[in-house]
Amino acid sequence: MMTESADTADRRRFAGSYAHRERALSHLPRGVSSTPRATQQPVPIVIERGEDAHVFDPDGNRFIDYALGYGPLILGHSPAAVMDAVRAELAKGLRTASVHRGEAELAELIADCVPSAEMTSFVSTGTEAIQLALRIARATTDRTKIIKFRANYHGWFDNVHVANAIGRDGASTVGQDPGATASITLVDWGDADALEAALDDSFAAVIAEPAAVNAGCFEPPPGFLERLRKATRKHGAMLIFDEVITGFRMALGGAQERYGVTPDITVLGKALGAGLPISAVSGTAAAMDVLASGKLMHRGTFNGNPLSIAAAIACLRVLREERATLYPRIDGYTARLCAHLNAESTRLGAKVNARQAGPAMQIFVSPEPVQTLADTAKADPKAILDFTGALLRRGVLTLPRGLCYLSSAHSAADMEATETAITAALESVSDRVAA
Ligand SMILES: Cc1ncc(COP(=O)(O)O)c(C=O)c1O
Repeated sequence: MMTESADTADRRRFAGSYAHRERALSHLPRGVSSTPRATQQPVPIVIERGEDAHVFDPDGNRFIDYALGYGPLILGHSPAAVMDAVRAELAKGLRTASVHRGEAELAELIADCVPSAEMTSFVSTGTEAIQLALRIARATTDRTKIIKFRANYHGWFDNVHVANAIGRDGASTVGQDPGATASITLVDWGDADALEAALDDSFAAVIAEPAAVNAGCFEPPPGFLERLRKATRKHGAMLIFDEVITGFRMALGGAQERYGVTPDITVLGKALGAGLPISAVSGTAAAMDVLASGKLMHRGTFNGNPLSIAAAIACLRVLREERATLYPRIDGYTARLCAHLNAESTRLGAKVNARQAGPAMQIFVSPEPVQTLADTAKADPKAILDFTGALLRRGVLTLPRGLCYLSSAHSAADMEATETAITAALESVSDRVAA
């Protein structure tokens, strides 16, 4: 239980965010535009502005940001190349829904960066891109059924918004059409035997997060992606990698570059736009033929909007230019934070632990360190909100559920300050979360 004095201290320190929440609740459900944002403890923080790897609230508090806008801000909050490109694009007027040179240029850049991305179509969000990918697979194979893995997240539309966490196979929210998932078969992620047993010639596609970041930062077990690739080829099903998180993050070419297995179709998003809304479906020329031939209809007013395209071109150029140093650095920083948290938690007897997948880290509060996907069911969803709240009070912003991303803007000084904050946060909660 929060003591009265600690609550008072929060209200004083984050007064601007508390006042904002009071006002917002009147006309904005839960005071936010996406439900998970409302779970932030002690209060959803109003971000007034961002600079490099830092954000600032209305009360003058500065936070080192590991939420990165839920992932997109791979270059931090104020990358000069991206800001300049967007300003230059704005100066041309708002050319929404027009044919423009940028969309072809970005498709070429993606083809240069992502191993299997010969052709690309643009949309605005990852949720939409997933729907296009599924439609491509169904149109190509003339089949309907899809294999989805448990604890993989593919956006919030009814037909895939199921089994988003271990132990919860059903719909992820009320209000979903129970009939929408009739063509979905669920399989345990990482279990190639189960996949091979479930797959036959009746499936249009297998869709997977190649590294299960949403599930708690799990890299694929050895051979898993290779067996997925082999089994889908054998049965004439398309392999879809959902690289909305892993794309341009696990490597310039995403998880498919990092693990050396290429899908037929790749869904890209988040980091692609460096903070502006853009997602993409890329694929081999053969996989994308239903679009190229005009057989499959693809529509959307905001598809390929020039501002987002300009940001993405600038972002990919920076990532390509800096790839040799950037990716090892953000992986290394993540490893450092993860090791620090685990060592300090052990020292202090706190039931907090962290896992790493490339430049992403998931913090858990759980009786034992989370080693397997099954262990994630034992993690305490309420206690992690308390722990990320403790980090926030010490100047470190993460996703409320404990997921952290690294950006190219994080510095060695940020790492040092974060380590200090992690230790202090562990000390503050160890009496409550210790055995
Ligand atoms: C792996 C994955 N796929 C798809 C999505 C949906 O993307 P969006 O939130 O842009 O609709 C997300 C969002 O977090 C994601 O993590």
